[in-house]
Amino acid sequence: MNINNLKEQLGKTVTLGAWIANKRSSGKIAFFQLRYGTGFIQAVALKESLGEERYQQLRHLPQESSIKVTGLVKENDRELSGIELEIQDFEVVSEAIDYPITPKEHGVEFLADNRHIWIRSKKQHAILTIRNQIIKSTYDFFEKEGFIKTDPPILTSSAPEGTTELFNTKYFDEEAYLSQSGQLYLEATVMSFGKVFSFGPTFRAEKSKTRRHLIEFWMIEAEMAFCNHDESLAIQEAYVNYLLTEVIEKCQEQLKILGRDLESLNAARGEFPRIKYKDAIKLLKDNGFDDIEYGDDFGSPHETFIANSYNKPVFITHWPLDIKPFYMIEDPNEPGVVLCADLIAPEGYGEIIGGSQRIDDYDKLLENIKKHDLNLDAYGWYLDLRKYGSVEHSGFGLGLERTVAWITGNGHVRETVPFPRLLNRLTP
Ligand code: 4AD
Repeated sequence: MNINNLKEQLGKTVTLGAWIANKRSSGKIAFFQLRYGTGFIQAVALKESLGEERYQQLRHLPQESSIKVTGLVKENDRELSGIELEIQDFEVVSEAIDYPITPKEHGVEFLADNRHIWIRSKKQHAILTIRNQIIKSTYDFFEKEGFIKTDPPILTSSAPEGTTELFNTKYFDEEAYLSQSGQLYLEATVMSFGKVFSFGPTFRAEKSKTRRHLIEFWMIEAEMAFCNHDESLAIQEAYVNYLLTEVIEKCQEQLKILGRDLESLNAARGEFPRIKYKDAIKLLKDNGFDDIEYGDDFGSPHETFIANSYNKPVFITHWPLDIKPFYMIEDPNEPGVVLCADLIAPEGYGEIIGGSQRIDDYDKLLENIKKHDLNLDAYGWYLDLRKYGSVEHSGFGLGLERTVAWITGNGHVRETVPFPRLLNRLTP
């Protein structure tokens, strides 16, 4: 029997399928942490009510054994869930054999090798539950705002974010790449639907071994027609605010399990400050960073310093044209920089969104494709979009795992996806 929300069963006797996540007992009373799918509950067994033999059988069941348990759902204010289960009866489904992840501390590599079972732990369960809420709230937000979800292909012949980080694969006799962004395809569907979004796996063969880099990550991308850069920033701000509000409201128990500092999450809501790239460089230089020059990309210490100057996510705008992809539009008021922004999360969690206004002029785009030495055959269809009713349009991509890392207060993206793909990890 599956019960989604045990709190709604207060005062009732229920039967549920569960796993023993943890246990402790004395002669007469045993406490269990049971994982019943959607959550955890403390369950209490009394020798007096179960009888000596049944009580001993239950209390000696190894960690992660599965049981069907019947009991009364009672209030317990000392529990994060606010409830507990008084066990009246149980049936053993499968007794676990030597579960390797015990309540003691384990090394990161050991846990990563055992990711297939590590995801059962209370902390991982809470992180992945919040990830799920963010996905659900994303769909809700975009639907509310009138967006249509259009799915770009995963196997592609083009490389929107540059050719150095591509995963190649054979497509029969042709060369193909795994998608590193669905953006170019969203630029096509947006001319049909006006406002579109996508959510899908994204692949980057980056040789980066940092807390923020995955080889395979999930990106939410949005594209809006008749929309300039400023209007796009307003949508990004509303979207991130919506995610924060939803998680704070709907994942209270998970945030408590994770010990997330709610004050800083709450403070992050509202209007996000904006700083131009050139002013960010000045800010860094004025504060003793001599390892960065105009024209460099920011490293993680730079991003963290800029983020720490605010308590909200901050947009870094107007980047030099030379270090950004070919499709970004130059600022007509400030030649040499493009109308784009990276959104940096507070508290050192790094960049969570990259977005820009796109070039809508055919000749300018053609010039850039040539300048970047891109294969014209692969981009013919993309250029076409500028021939038939081209309009001002903008869009952005939010990295799900980095956003989950920030909102859950978890320092490393490897714990924000069920099965991370890292530089040296393809298993499990
Ligand atoms: O800034 P990026 O590269 O932007 C794009 O791909 C645009 N085409 C999106 C668009 O305009 N439709 O990536 C967007 C976000 C980053 O801000 C970051 O959050 C995440 O994707 N990201 C990664 N997350 C985890 N691991 C990696 N290796 C990532 N690379 C980017």
